[in-house]
Amino acid sequence: MSKVDVVLGTFFGDEGKGKIIDYLATKSDVAVRCSGGNNAGHTINVNGKKYAFHLIPSGILNSNTKAVIGNGVVIDPKVLIEEINELKANGISVENLYISTKAHIILPYHIMMDKLLEANRGSNKIGTTARGIGPAYCDKYERCGIRVEDFISPEFSKLARINIANKNKVFESYGYETLNADSVIQEYEEYARILKPYVVDTVNLLHDYLDEGKKILCEGAQATLLDIDFGTYPFVTSSNPTIGGICTGSGLGAKDIGEVYGVLKAYASKVGEGPFLTEQDNEIGDTIRELGHEYGTTTKRPRRCGWLDLVALKYVVRINGITGLAINHVDTIGKLPKIKVCVGYEHNGEVTTHYSTNLDYINECSPIYEEFDGNFGDISNVKSRNDLPENAKVYLNRIEEFVGVPVKFIGTGAGREEMIIC
Ligand code: IMP
Repeated sequence: MSKVDVVLGTFFGDEGKGKIIDYLATKSDVAVRCSGGNNAGHTINVNGKKYAFHLIPSGILNSNTKAVIGNGVVIDPKVLIEEINELKANGISVENLYISTKAHIILPYHIMMDKLLEANRGSNKIGTTARGIGPAYCDKYERCGIRVEDFISPEFSKLARINIANKNKVFESYGYETLNADSVIQEYEEYARILKPYVVDTVNLLHDYLDEGKKILCEGAQATLLDIDFGTYPFVTSSNPTIGGICTGSGLGAKDIGEVYGVLKAYASKVGEGPFLTEQDNEIGDTIRELGHEYGTTTKRPRRCGWLDLVALKYVVRINGITGLAINHVDTIGKLPKIKVCVGYEHNGEVTTHYSTNLDYINECSPIYEEFDGNFGDISNVKSRNDLPENAKVYLNRIEEFVGVPVKFIGTGAGREEMIIC
């Protein structure tokens, strides 16, 4: 067994990483979040109780698993404290929670700036989650960000005061309300006091765990086509939810990484703006949305739905070095009588299987589809791939054949147990 396994989203997020993470966490000693912030979200159902996770690795539900928020994450302290309180209220211990000294803090001005920037973009808006994620990463790279270690130190008020004064100038120039530095500092000093006991040097912590032979699971957030470098820029998030972000967001080395699981759905979905070549903005898309309950966990927005794009999936497999696929909602797609899968793009009369994130190019491409028979029937109790109906086997075999990576998990229903482990 490898020391570090990774779970990544493949397309535009919301692929159901939580379910795979939930299973793999039971086999891991440590669960780590490496990038993003509370723009991410997954819900885990345990004994009839739903837990919504935005920042804390969901591995914390296992009493023996250490949960680490790595340096690559941007933390809204208010949201994190709410999550901690929710867990505690349900009798889940948070003694095993560790927050990196080097993660960056989201402050109210980041959220205000996120909204202001979106409003200014008008019809070119990105469709952000308005959680302040982009502006917090901007400050990180501008080197005026406030890291957790600054946040819990007496320096915090000084740093916050400078930043608030600078941001207020921007808010003022747009005729927006400004922030009162004293009240923000007072409120956030209290949050810092609550979070301080969880703060550690997570880089050394993780490497000590490796030396002790502990098994680590990195819980990816968002997904590859939302990656700031490899996604459909500018319709992306502000971090690297790809394999590189796992290393830079945790301090773990590339050589320690073993399995890299790419999670996808048997169809495609997206929230926010941006190109989505296989989108079905029609009755088929509406049917998939209803069958798959495709409404955002974090924002409740209806998701755009369409067919699975294998050209994009191949790109995702290459970038991340994916070693195994986890395909959710095979039961959902199997409710349709006919299923399409994109196996090539036609561009100016030429056919390619190379994905591109060039927006003009993508907009000029038309998808080439292969059609499969659906009507898989009820597969929720199937526990072996061999026992799946023939139509489902044909569908899954074609995906594997196209991208050259084996399917390791097959989602057969919404429940925790409704999954075939190959
Ligand atoms: P931001 O991350 O809030 O800046 O939003 C940028 C883009 O990424 C928007 O299209 C969001 O809808 C999308 N996005 C961010 N996080 C997630 C996620 O966890 N799932 C799906 N889409 C996301």
